[in-house]
Amino acid sequence: MKKKITVGIFDSGIGGLTVLKECAEHLSGVTFLYYGDNLHAPYGSKNAEEILYLTREAVKRFARRGTDAVVLACNTATAVAVDELRREFSFPIIGTEPAVKPAAEHGGNVLVLATPRTVQSVRLRMLTGRFPDCHIRVYPAAHLAEAVERHFIYGEPLYLKAHLPEGRYDAVVLGCTHFVYLKKEISQYYSAPVFDGGEGTAKRLANVLKLPFSGTADHQLGEKNPNNCFTLKRRNFPQNRVKFIGKCRKINKLIYFRTFVSEKTKK
Ligand code: DGL
Repeated sequence: MKKKITVGIFDSGIGGLTVLKECAEHLSGVTFLYYGDNLHAPYGSKNAEEILYLTREAVKRFARRGTDAVVLACNTATAVAVDELRREFSFPIIGTEPAVKPAAEHGGNVLVLATPRTVQSVRLRMLTGRFPDCHIRVYPAAHLAEAVERHFIYGEPLYLKAHLPEGRYDAVVLGCTHFVYLKKEISQYYSAPVFDGGEGTAKRLANVLKLPFSGTADHQLGEKNPNNCFTLKRRNFPQNRVKFIGKCRKINKLIYFRTFVSEKTKK
């Protein structure tokens, strides 16, 4: 019998669902477990020690359930913790990095939007340093991830312009998976193409697991299923801050995504 493949996908909250979507659209035969640490979100303003601790706890959680790989669907957790966690765990850990390369190849003035912790990271500095001929501005959108959580989970209004720097840019990199929810709006605001690392991460996952990566995403996925990872806006999230872990399974071209809300977690 063919061995079942399980992959854990982690983010501080709902941002990583955008990466889960890419992975589920491009890879077949994988059961995805999703863990969003909403209780401690946002991570972007926390110190490195705390982010490493929380990310390690999340990876341990997947390890206990049994997993073939873990995706850190969080640029911040990747920037801070991926190197250390790769040394600690025996299964592959795939990170999510800001898509600076395609934006730099597009050329001109590039804006990278990320959390403060990612902006301060050596990893991002090294990444942008690889494109010395490109003019890259890195901007910490300090409260945008939290605003996205509050908007999509609790329905609070989100004033996007208040979170974005002014200026003219030829390409924008979304260096935080939460920002991907606003891809269209950010692209319209700057009248520029927007790049994110979701598809690249899915490709890397396929590569590591030696699975085929279907070039054309199956965009029909999930559309018909009311209980899937793309209908987050319509979901009734409880009003308290919760952790959730879900299971995403692709059966007959539909994604089944169940969310298990844990008991109210103590502060
Ligand atoms: N979604 C995360 C990222 O990609 C972090 C957002 C946050 O919790 O600050 O960076």
